[in-house]
Amino acid sequence: MKRVAILVSGSGSNMVALAESMVGDHPARPVLVLSNVPGAGGLARAAALGIPTAVVDHRPFGKDRAAFEAALQAELEAARPDILCLAGFMRVLTEGFVGRWQGRMLNIHPSLLPKYRGLDTHGRAIEAGDTEAGCTVHEVTAELDGGPILGQARVPVLPGDSPEALATRVLPMEHRLYPAVLRRFAAGDRRPVTLP
Ligand code: GRF
Repeated sequence: MKRVAILVSGSGSNMVALAESMVGDHPARPVLVLSNVPGAGGLARAAALGIPTAVVDHRPFGKDRAAFEAALQAELEAARPDILCLAGFMRVLTEGFVGRWQGRMLNIHPSLLPKYRGLDTHGRAIEAGDTEAGCTVHEVTAELDGGPILGQARVPVLPGDSPEALATRVLPMEHRLYPAVLRRFAAGDRRPVTLP
């Protein structure tokens, strides 16, 4: 049984989808939800699901990313995860931290990578006149939003879409894609998942 730690910074809707998928004959179980934001909504939702939680507030560390990541690592070592899932985790991780977890760390990004790495992905897709958008689950490497793609889900961009409208259309697909990818990944299967 693989042990999964999920890192969140916000509402944790992807964390909930992942946690609720890890039941029955699923080869993994959630062992920790870790946030850099005290009071993040995802922490209360994890506690309600009976998942242990921890907070490592990044603010006291200022620009000392290595010290912040050492504190993350300490919490993670206590939970002994086999897999890390970044789920709405909004801190850029250094090469040092990524190197320790490479090959065992996933992230979900709200664009069809390699398009629109970074922020404001939906606004940029609309601005570019794209007719489709979506989300990508990828392995995390030192290159931001650049690791091997493990799954993608596509949605149409409709005339007059605002970034919020597009985000609302993409988010439910994230909640389907990430659990599907994690289930395969935890079973050692890296064949990409494509939705729909
Ligand atoms: C989602 O759009 C996800 O793609 C991005 O963070 C947003 C919020 O995620 N990574 P969550 O609701 O906190 O899981």
